Amino acid sequence: ASTSVKLNTGAEMPTVGLGTWKSAPGAVEHAVEFALKHGYKSIDTAAAYQNETEVGVGIKASGVARGDFFLTTKLDNPDHENAEAALEKSLKNLGTDYLDLCAFLSVIAIGKGSSRTAWNIGLMHWPAPMTPGSKGPLHGVDWLDTWKSMEKLYKAHPEKLRAIGVSNFSVEFLERLLASAEVVPAVNQIELHPARGIVVTAYSPLGSDNSPLLTHEVVTKIAAKHNVQPANVLISLQANRPGVNVLPKSVTNSRIANNFNIIDLSEEEIKELNDIDKTLHFRACHPSWTGFGSLGFPDCKDADK
Ligand code: A2P
Repeated sequence: ASTSVKLNTGAEMPTVGLGTWKSAPGAVEHAVEFALKHGYKSIDTAAAYQNETEVGVGIKASGVARGDFFLTTKLDNPDHENAEAALEKSLKNLGTDYLDLCAFLSVIAIGKGSSRTAWNIGLMHWPAPMTPGSKGPLHGVDWLDTWKSMEKLYKAHPEKLRAIGVSNFSVEFLERLLASAEVVPAVNQIELHPARGIVVTAYSPLGSDNSPLLTHEVVTKIAAKHNVQPANVLISLQANRPGVNVLPKSVTNSRIANNFNIIDLSEEEIKELNDIDKTLHFRACHPSWTGFGSLGFPDCKDADK
């Protein structure tokens, strides 16, 4: 597998990055420091993960120059109308003056040989404006306007924001965005569909906490054959897809080190692994997320159907 994926901005985004969703303050500092010291060149966080400050502490403790790794964070749902203030806050929390990528509900940042810090990329975390505390939908706010403020920020502050992208966008949402976007998103960070040259970042490649995938017979069989852990098989499955990069999350040193080892899978193995997906997947759904039908999200009660 290639070690990086080229974005439509021309920047290279590393194939494997450290995921930090659910990595708690107290543990995430060390995970980030350990990962950067052991070869990782991409760190992914989000304002919503409530660990940006601690991620920043880990970055600083690693001693790795800002220009030597890619940093991503994400615009939180209640900040759709305050993208600029949210960007500044994330930069401050992370102790950086630029991002490689910032997404709608998510921001990603990439370093380019400077010791300054910033978002390499900013992502919109979800196409779902919410009230403070993410208690419910914020009616009357269109996520398309959020994208327009992100475009404005990107154009006004290229030194702070090196790329913008989206997260959790379905093809339908992307079509609507592309119909009026001036800047085509560099990345769509999702549970997983590549389209139109937009790089896909796969989160939760292992199936998140207590994943049944790690003990699935197909995964363990292929792992044994290659003499690696089941996690390496699942991470490699994503890393071997063209135009895709992957963010395994761990706060455990041995796992962080282990997960960076990508293996080549045969076509037959890839097919066997992809067939598992027909029965198992995570669907984003939060009990407070009722009333999103008009935005295209299923309510939780429909999500398990
Ligand atoms: P921990 O962070 O305590 O090490 P995903 O990336 O799919 O969201 O999965 C993250 C979950 O998988 C976390 O619970 C993480 O635990 C666990 N995990 C990470 N790496 C491995 C591994 N190599 N083997 C088993 N579990 C792992």
